[in-house]
Amino acid sequence: MKKHNISLQVNGAVHEVTIQPNKTLLDVLRDELNMPETKYGCGTGECGACTVLVDDQKVINSCLTLAATMDGKSITTAAGLQTADGTLHPVQEAFVENAAVQCGYCTPGMVLKSVGLLKKNPNPSEDEIREWLEGNICRCTGYEKIVTAVQLAGKKIAQADS
Ligand code: FES
Ligand code: FES
Repeated sequence: MKKHNISLQVNGAVHEVTIQPNKTLLDVLRDELNMPETKYGCGTGECGACTVLVDDQKVINSCLTLAATMDGKSITTAAGLQTADGTLHPVQEAFVENAAVQCGYCTPGMVLKSVGLLKKNPNPSEDEIREWLEGNICRCTGYEKIVTAVQLAGKKIAQADS
């Protein structure tokens, strides 16, 4: 199989990688770039654990995305949300403050998916949050605390912007 050279900007740093064409973005993040914060859950698009943000806008399941299709794109993982001095993103802060994290396995994907929602809809209703997060599975929290954390994050972002 012919290998491809691609360039990925991940959390602000450019990486040139040579990959097999069948490698997923999740494979490349975890195995080539040593970024285990993007989780492998199902590998089939069912759990959302592998969610990343593309070009600061679009949330995707990295397990279903061929890395070659991401050539030249900017990818944000959960580790890229906080600022250089370690200040958490308002969504991360809200998850911590609202005890929306238990085992933490779903958390990177949940947080990134929530960031994507708040970019499109800064003040989502409970129903809109639940619908948006449908593809992200949490086995621990019962979702209640996650939903209220997303609402709290929306308020934090609005306050910071005002
Ligand atoms: S690992 Fe990608 S959706 Fe489950
Ligand atoms: S906190 Fe454990 S799976 Fe969500």
